[in-house]
This record gives sequence, C-alpha cells and structure tokens, in this order.
Amino acid sequence: MLQERTHTCGELRATDAGEQVVLQGWVQALRDRGGVAFLVLRDRYGTVQITVDERSPEAVREAVKKLALEYVVQVKGEVVERYRPNEGMATGAIEVVASELELLSGTRPLPFTMSDEVDALEDTRLRYRFLDLRRPALQRNIILRHRAVAAVRSFLDEQRFLEIETPILTKATPEGARDYLVPSRVHPGQWYALPQSPQLFKQILMVAGMDRYFQVARCFRDEDLRADRQPEFTQIDIEMSFVTSDMVMTLAEGVVGAMWKESVGFDIGEVPRITFAEAIHRFGVDNPDMRFEMELSDLTSTLAASTFPPIANAIAHKGIVKTFVVKGAAGNTSRKVLDAWTKFVRNYGMGGLMWGKVSGGEMSGPAAKALPEGMAMADYLAAAGAADGDLLLLGAGEAGVVNTGMGRLRSHVAKELDLIPEGIFKFCWVTDFPAFEKDDDGRWTSMHHPFTSPKAEHMDWLGDDEKMGDILSDAYDLVCNGSEIGGGSIRIHREDVQQKVLAALGIGEAEAREKFGFLLDALAHGAPPHGGLAFGLDRCISILTGADSIRDVIAFPKTTSAQDRMVDAPNAVPLADLDVLKVKNTV
Ligand code: AMO
Repeated sequence: MLQERTHTCGELRATDAGEQVVLQGWVQALRDRGGVAFLVLRDRYGTVQITVDERSPEAVREAVKKLALEYVVQVKGEVVERYRPNEGMATGAIEVVASELELLSGTRPLPFTMSDEVDALEDTRLRYRFLDLRRPALQRNIILRHRAVAAVRSFLDEQRFLEIETPILTKATPEGARDYLVPSRVHPGQWYALPQSPQLFKQILMVAGMDRYFQVARCFRDEDLRADRQPEFTQIDIEMSFVTSDMVMTLAEGVVGAMWKESVGFDIGEVPRITFAEAIHRFGVDNPDMRFEMELSDLTSTLAASTFPPIANAIAHKGIVKTFVVKGAAGNTSRKVLDAWTKFVRNYGMGGLMWGKVSGGEMSGPAAKALPEGMAMADYLAAAGAADGDLLLLGAGEAGVVNTGMGRLRSHVAKELDLIPEGIFKFCWVTDFPAFEKDDDGRWTSMHHPFTSPKAEHMDWLGDDEKMGDILSDAYDLVCNGSEIGGGSIRIHREDVQQKVLAALGIGEAEAREKFGFLLDALAHGAPPHGGLAFGLDRCISILTGADSIRDVIAFPKTTSAQDRMVDAPNAVPLADLDVLKVKNTV
C-alpha cells in the first residue's frame, strides 16, 4: 500500500540515525552478497543505500530477490549510521535497513542504462525519452533550466515587467524562416500560422500601454536544423516603451546576470560592446567567440602588390586577404591537418587556404609565396603578427566569403587544438548591424526583421539602392562563447517610417496592408517609442550546462529531421480528417 514518504532519496544524513523512514524511488543499483542485499534507491533528489540483511523480515529478504534495475519500490526501515561511509554519495553516512519492501511497479528490459555515460544512439534515447530524462545529467539540465527561468521571472517582476501570453494560432510573423501552418476547419481554405516569434504582438502591447512586457514564449520556425536550432524553441521575449538601445541592453544584462548568477553562480561582469563592422574585421563573424585570441588581421593592403595568383586575383576583384596566426603551431601541424582545414574553408566557399610556417625569420609553405617583390619578410610577418614557431593561415577572395571562412576556421582550429578554456563564459554585444542585406535573388531583405528601426541619421537613404547596404540599424545581438544567445532592436514606431521601410523591401502598400495592416493601424494610433529583445532560452541553458546540443536541455526535443521520436510526430492523419479541413493530401 502506498504510504506517504517521510524523506526523499537525497535527504538523509547521520543526524537522522535511529529514525523510521518511508522512501520511494527507482532501483538504481542492486548487489546481492549472499544473504546481504544492497540496493541504491534513486529519485530526483539523490540516491540512498538500502540494506536488506538478517535484521530484515523474511518476506523482505525474499522480495528483494525479485527486484531488477529501474523497478519502482517503497521501502520502510530504520536509518543506521554506516561504519564506513559510502564515498561520493550525499547520503553516504547512513543506510536504511529495510523492514518493509513493496514493489510498486516493474519494467520491461531496458534499452540503455540510466547513467550519465550511455552508448545508446540518440535516436533510441529520444524514443525512450522517459528513460533518458531519468539520467542524472539530463535531470541536472532540466533543473538548472527551471532555476534560470525562475531567476528571470523574479528579476523581471522586480523591474515591473508584466508576463503576458500571446496567441499561438496566428498570422505569419517574418523572422526569416518558413511558417508552420494550421488549416482552419471553420474557414476552409484559410490557414493560421504558428508564430516565429511574438514580435508583432509585443509591439502592439506597447501601443496598448503595457509599458514593460515579457513572456517565456514558444516560437516555431520551419528551417534547416543544426545543433543549436530546433523547430520549436523557447525565447525569453522582452519589450519596453520609451527606451533607447542602451537602456534595453542594460536591462538585458540584468536578465542574463540573474540567469547566470542563480543557476551557476557566475558573475557576468561588464559586457563589452563592439560594432558589427568591428566584429567582422576582427573575427570574421558576427558571433565572435572571445574565449581565445587568434584575431584576424587584414593583409589586403600589405599584400596589394603580391603577384601570387590567389592573392593577386582576389585583390583585382576587390576582394580581401585575411590571416590569423596559431602561436607555436608551426612544428606540430601536419599536412593532413592542414588539408582538412583547407577542406573546412572550402565548405564556406573559399577557393583554398594558404599556410605558412615561420622559422628563423623566414616562412615556408604557400603563404610565403604571397610576399610581394621588394617587401622584407620581416614586414610581412609583423603585419600578420607572426613570429618564429608560429603557423600562419591565410585566405583570399570575396570579402563575405573570406570573413566567414576564416572566422569559422578560427573557432574550428581553437576547438581542435584545445585552445578554448573550459568553464568560462565570455559575453559581448554586437551593435550597429546593417539594416538590410541582399538575398540570393538580389532583393533587399531585413537583416533582423522589417520592424527594426534604421538609425535616425540614415533614414534618408531608405529606398536608394546605392545606399541601402550602408544603412545601419538600432539592432543588437548578445553573444556568449561564440553563440548568439539573444537579439533585438529599437523598433519603428511611426506608421510612415514603417511604410517606407516596407516599400524599400519591395513590399507594396496592398501587400503591407494585407500582411501587417494591424501593425500599421496600431502605429497610427499613438505608438510610444519602444524596443526590446529576445533571448534564445535553449541556447542559454545549453551554454550554462555545457550540453553538446540544445536537445539535451529541452525535455521533449525534435530530432535533426524535425521528428518527435517518442510520440511519433509528424504522422499521417485519416483522410476523413483532411476532408473536414477541405485539405487534399497530394503525397
Ligand atoms: P531572433 O530571430 O534573433 O529574434 O531570435 C532571438 C533568439 O532566439 C534564438 N533562436 C533559436 N533558438 C533555437 N532554435 C532556433 N531555431 C532559433 N532561432 C532563434 C537565438 C536568437 O538570438 N523577434 C526577434 C527578437 C526581437 O527583435 O526582440 C527574434 O525572434 O538565440
């Protein structure tokens, strides 16, 4: 019969000796030493040793023989101080001598063990997520996630933010991905979209005078998945009225500070701010990992007179030449490794990678051939920041391609050579993003979203094709350890400006009305200046826990092919259900 437990499995200490207790949990370990059986009982709070020996009644000694790992049991017994404490167990000072043992539930054979190290395929783990989540590592992740969210809620409540829910069945919200669509039964042929973010609703809440909003918001994006992307993920979504970008960033530092402090006790300190242009210049990417050095140097002008074809060609086509130096790596970097790195940058569209090994003030390898006639090697080395024993990696070509390729290679090399210190968090803000970029079809699109305010001084350039690429926006991203964990902007709060931006993006008046009429109406009815941002909660937690993938910090994640292996979704539905929705299955 189920009794009320007196303690959890992680709770008992030497001071509890002599107490009669009732415990419940899963059998984590089982050892039978001929007449003396030890079992380790586990629940969310910890583990405790149960001993069944001659002090236990016969019925209990029989019952223990029938147990197996992961059976759910109830134990009643006396807490006894152990002569030799169990090392590494919080409850190691005691054991519970069982006087009653009841099997509450059994299990089929287990597909994998409930330990931190499992060799099961992730697919199997996701299929049996109820077992996977029992593993201590995942329990720790889920608990830390709860702590972090609780810290955010309490911090924002103190700052007078209101937590407000926004619709899930809604209309397309442009965040750059495909929408998940839901057919309407009541209005055949019409569709809801799941929100890619609550962006427009939170802006409407500002117009509605809510002043400070936040939400732990689920977002849905049908995009190609990567280790740090899920089709549905969670944002800490924030919006504030009457603010500058400085004010939003300061508030956001408070949020992240609370999250990091309460969950891992880390003080985030001052968060440096760099502009997008500086990030690209120094790191090649807009999500720089600041945990290690190896910054990029621009050698375009140093090597302008080079006749070495890869360099000369790049420069002739208005391209750039960039390098970074791996300290002391000249001696121990094999051709095989260099070939693999070359392959790596080719994935980003680079033609190749030139390397140079420095020794005795001279350089060997393809990068040495880049030296222009008449230039001293010492000047080349000084410009690159390379010294004896160093390995220099050099890329040349179109600016965007070289920056991305060399920037990604920088992180790749740091990882491979173990140059990234463990257990530290390096934050930085990236600000002043270009407002617009050209897509593959040569059309202007928003770099963030079309509700981001261009900088006041660049407003006049809107719609001027020559100038559109130079318009900067009041947008900011927060980066931690090379991962974009949040982003936001000051929004457009005037209808005419919003119309102008939409027009510059090739969205005509009729289309603008159809898609965002409600926003334009709201902006035309006394909209306060406002701005905000959203943190990717899953990414924050995976950084905090050191998880390999955001799947390890989400209770029920999707696979990389966007499936839920446990419930088996997506799945086919009866044709009759589609008939009701007036939807035809053409597959
Ligand atoms: P953005 O699209 O930059 O901005 O998203 C904000 C943060 O959400 C996280 N993120 C994701 N996490 C997991 N899986 C995904 N597929 C995924 N996509 C994004 C990132 C990102 O920094 N409405 C704006 C915010 C604003 O302007 O206030 C928005 O959604 O960590």
